Amino acid sequence: MKVPMKTLYTGAQIPGIGLGTFGSDHVDAKTVAGVVREALKMGYRYLDCAACYGNEAEIGEAIADCAVPRGELFVLSKLWNDMHGRVREACEKTLRDLRLEYLDCYLVHWPFPNYHPPGCDGNARNPDSRPYIHEEFLRTWRAMEDLVDRGLVRHIGVSNMTIPKLKLLLRDARICPAVHEMELHPCFQQGELFQFCLDNDILPIGYCPIGSPARPERDRTEEDFADTQMPVVREIARAHGVHPAVICVKWAAQRGQVPIPFTSRPENALANLRAVCEDPLTDGEMNAMRSVERNSRLIKGQVFLWEGAASWLDLWDIGGKIHG
Ligand SMILES: NC(=O)c1ccc[n+]([C@@H]2O[C@H](COP(=O)([O-])OP(=O)(O)OC[C@H]3O[C@@H](n4cnc5c(N)ncnc54)[C@H](OP(=O)(O)O)[C@@H]3O)[C@@H](O)[C@H]2O)c1
Repeated sequence: MKVPMKTLYTGAQIPGIGLGTFGSDHVDAKTVAGVVREALKMGYRYLDCAACYGNEAEIGEAIADCAVPRGELFVLSKLWNDMHGRVREACEKTLRDLRLEYLDCYLVHWPFPNYHPPGCDGNARNPDSRPYIHEEFLRTWRAMEDLVDRGLVRHIGVSNMTIPKLKLLLRDARICPAVHEMELHPCFQQGELFQFCLDNDILPIGYCPIGSPARPERDRTEEDFADTQMPVVREIARAHGVHPAVICVKWAAQRGQVPIPFTSRPENALANLRAVCEDPLTDGEMNAMRSVERNSRLIKGQVFLWEGAASWLDLWDIGGKIHG
């Protein structure tokens, strides 16, 4: 199978699909590492990791066992919120755990230094939480740039950003973000932010590409839509003889983002890999997928809210203004 590649602004290549590695608080590290092993054997080359997923050491063992030539791999990890002031230490720990000498990409996971413990309840709040403060974020970004200078990481990027925050970063960055990892699935297409990224040479990486059907309890509300239950998605899936999840992955890759589906089952990892390599959606089907948009954000981030914030919407700068 030939996985399509995308090009970052540096000229470096990134595979057009990655393997998500967040076990959503219920798939343990050993199981995730087992899927990584199988996925590397079947041809996955991009692994989407993060310190806060609590499984980098097990994934590091899987990477070492598979012995894929390092130059073929694209390994991405993320700085967790409580380490914004200790970027190098956090990156070096991730490198040790993953048993690598460099990362292909390192992201600031959230633009806030607001910590919540793994597996916490949706109503949990940290009294130390603060809104976005650009000067503070820039200090973290300078430390991220330093990692590139030191050769510890090849690219740096962001996640969970908004247009106003990205504009400030692009104005002040010495090394621009190469990617933006953002929530993207048929019911949450984020057209404006997606286009802003493309216009600024930032590759969108789409998380929760299948609508994260097994996401943690804290990330569920009654208003959420289920992508794989949408009639248009199901009808297209029937036409192609595949699971609706596969249609979500095809749509993502053809639209221009890099999807990073998670799975606990190797057979689903294979179906997702094949999704981006064969039997593309027709132009008519791609058009029909536009109508599935419901503005259904699943990862609302409410556990990162600060005192005085009105609702989780404040994290996302609705109306184009940074809330503080
Ligand atoms: N940057 C961020 O803040 C952020 C936030 C959230 C997620 N992420 C990243 O994005 C990745 C993906 O997001 P996610 O795990 O929340 O959700 P997702 O990839 O949208 O959904 C994963 C779910 O879909 C099912 N699935 C996968 N492939 C399937 C197939 N071919 N057929 C049927 N079902 C299938 C899996 O079930 P089975 O296990 O049964 O296959 C699993 O429950 C994460 O692992 C993480 O790396 C990043």
